[in-house]
Amino acid sequence: MGKEVLIDEETISKRIIQLADQINNDYKGEKLTLVCILKGSLYFYADLSRKINLDTELEFIRVSSYEGENSTGKIDFKLDLDEEVTNKNVIVVEDIVDTGNTLDSLLKHLKKQKPKSLKLCTLLDKKDRRETEVPIDYVGFKIPNHFVIGYGLDLDQKYRNIPEIYCFIEDEEREQLNEDRERIVLQLKYGNRR
Ligand code: IMP
Repeated sequence: MGKEVLIDEETISKRIIQLADQINNDYKGEKLTLVCILKGSLYFYADLSRKINLDTELEFIRVSSYEGENSTGKIDFKLDLDEEVTNKNVIVVEDIVDTGNTLDSLLKHLKKQKPKSLKLCTLLDKKDRRETEVPIDYVGFKIPNHFVIGYGLDLDQKYRNIPEIYCFIEDEEREQLNEDRERIVLQLKYGNRR
């Protein structure tokens, strides 16, 4: 088992500019509240928010949803919003959507506060693993079912500060990895808006 780059720094930053352009267009003339889901989305959030040229408020939430290895969907707030998001345009900024259970619970929680609008932006989408469908409005990269680390993502709290996104693969998966990388770079060219 080895650690290999799946998405390099340049590809990440180019895609973030594209996502920010979409958001700047979609919310032209509006105020925006960007909600960072700590800890995993810290770098994505920091880089994306600095490319957004709207009147923007920054908010932070930290939840834990895992019991052991399993995503339960029951979320426990370690840090909640400073202020409720009633009547605000909210974009939740996530690092990766995996089973979807955490975000499903979080979106239900935020909807109760009656925001003016509520959208979801994730850097990575591991769609094959989905257990609960969540509506994702802005997707950085759709990725195959690899466990990924770096650029905020961790394994037991390690590797978050690596600037690229890595995955762990077996030797025999190397050829497949090249295909996965090509498919990721194509998303820069063609986007993947839903
Ligand atoms: P979900 O409820 O399964 O969608 O959980 C999403 C959360 O699980 C993410 O915000 C990450 O913190 C974590 N996660 C899921 N997949 C990975 C991965 O490949 N690497 C690191 N963390 C992951």
